[in-house]
Amino acid sequence: MSTKRLYIKTFGCQMNVHDSERIGGLLRDEGYRLTEKPDEADMIIVNTCNIREKSEQKAYSDLGRFAMLKRDKPDLILGMAGCVAQKDGEKVLKRYKGLDLVFGSSNIENVPQMLQTITLNAQPVVMVLEPPGPPKTTPADRKDRVRAWVSIMEGCDRHCAFCVVPMTRGRERSRLSAEIVQEVSHLAEAGYKEITLLGQTVNSYGKSLEEGVDFADLLRMLNAVDGIERIRFMSPHPSDMNPKLIETMAELPKICEFLHLPLQSGSDAVLKRMGRGYTLNEYRPIVERLRRLVPDMAFSTDIIIGFPGETEDDFKKTLDAVAEFEYDNVYYFHYSQRPNTPAAQWEDQIPDEVKDARFARLSALEKALAREKNRRLIDTVQEVLVEGRSKRDRAKLTGRTRSNKLVHFEGDDREIGCLINVRITFASSTYLEGMRIEG
Ligand code: 5AD
Repeated sequence: MSTKRLYIKTFGCQMNVHDSERIGGLLRDEGYRLTEKPDEADMIIVNTCNIREKSEQKAYSDLGRFAMLKRDKPDLILGMAGCVAQKDGEKVLKRYKGLDLVFGSSNIENVPQMLQTITLNAQPVVMVLEPPGPPKTTPADRKDRVRAWVSIMEGCDRHCAFCVVPMTRGRERSRLSAEIVQEVSHLAEAGYKEITLLGQTVNSYGKSLEEGVDFADLLRMLNAVDGIERIRFMSPHPSDMNPKLIETMAELPKICEFLHLPLQSGSDAVLKRMGRGYTLNEYRPIVERLRRLVPDMAFSTDIIIGFPGETEDDFKKTLDAVAEFEYDNVYYFHYSQRPNTPAAQWEDQIPDEVKDARFARLSALEKALAREKNRRLIDTVQEVLVEGRSKRDRAKLTGRTRSNKLVHFEGDDREIGCLINVRITFASSTYLEGMRIEG
C-alpha cells in the first residue's frame, strides 16, 4: 500500500485532541501517515468544536480555506469531524461543495468504512448517528510518548442551561472496563508512564453499563497496571464526587494530587439557573475533604463570566469563591450563546462590555493566586515526569509535577520519560524552574 498523507486540524478540548489521535490511528491502518503541511496532504480533516461561538467560526473559516486546495488537487479528500459536524450534518455539505466526509465524534469508529464508501461511490458521506452500546476500542496515533489520553466514556446526560455538548456528543456511553484496562496495559508496555482518563463527566463513568463498575472501581483497576506511574482524569462533575471516590483518590498512590473541578459560578442563584445541580455549600466539602486527606492537593476550575442575569453581586461571589478555594489555575470564558440551549433564549443577556470588565478582574485575581501558589513551592523538592526539551530553552528539559505544574530544569535527553526529583528555585504564575537533585 502506498503511503498517503493525512492532515488533521483540531479545535477544542482534550477529548477532541484525543479523537484526532483515534482518527489518525484508524487511518494509519488504511495507509495514511500524518503530515504537518495541509498543502501536501491527500486527505484533510477538520475536527471541530462548538462549545463557544468563536471556535465554531474558526473551524468554518479553515474549512473554506482547505476547500480552495481542492481546485488544484481534485482528488484531495476533505472531511469535517467533531461537534459542529454532528450539529450541522447535511447542512455543511450544502455550504461547502468540496466536502467528502462529515461525521460526529460517536462515528469515529466508522471512518474506514466511510472512506471505502467515498472511494467506491464518489459521493459525499454524512454520518452523525449515535451507535447503540458501549463505544468500541479504536487504535490511536499518539504524538506523545510519555503521557497518553484515554477516553473512557462519551456524551453527557446532564442538561446545563449553557452547554451544547448534550446536543453534539449524545447520551452518556461508557466503554467496557476490561477494554480500558487492556488499552492502558498496552500503553504501559509501550513505555507510557502517565494516563489521563477523558470523559465529559468522567466520574459518572459506568452508569450506562450493566457491569456494576463505577469510576472509583475503574481507578482501582488502573492503579494496578504495572508501569503506569501517574493517573489523572478530566473533567469530573462536582455532583459525582462522592465520598467513595474521594477516599479512593486519597488511598491510591498513582492518582495525582490534582483535580480540575469546574465550579462555573460562585453564586447559588446562578448555579441554580445554570442547572448545575449543586450549591456552593455542596461544592465546598469536596475541596475541604480532599485537602484534608491529600497533602499538597492542587485544584483548577472553569468559570463562565456573564451568564444571563449575572449581577455584580453574583460575580463578586464568584471572585470570593475563587479566592476561598485558592485554585492553582482558573480557566474562564465569556458566556457564549449556543444554539438550542435554554440560556441562549433568555432575555437578560449580559452586554459584552460588562463581560470584558469582569473578565479583567477575574484574570487579575487568577494571576495573583497562581503566582502565590507557585511561589510556595520554592525550595521544595518535586517529582517531575520529564516530557521532552523545553521549547523556550533547548538546554532545558520540561515536565510536570504530580500537581500538574510545568517545570523547566537542565538535564539530559536520557531523562525524557523518567521521574526526576527537582528542587524548585524560581516560580512565575505559569511555570517553575528548578535543579535536579543528584542520586
Ligand atoms: N459559554 C461559555 N463557556 C462555556 N463552557 C461551556 N459552555 C459554554 C458557553 N456556552 C465552558 C464551561 C465548561 C468548559 C469546558 O467550557 O466552563 O466547563
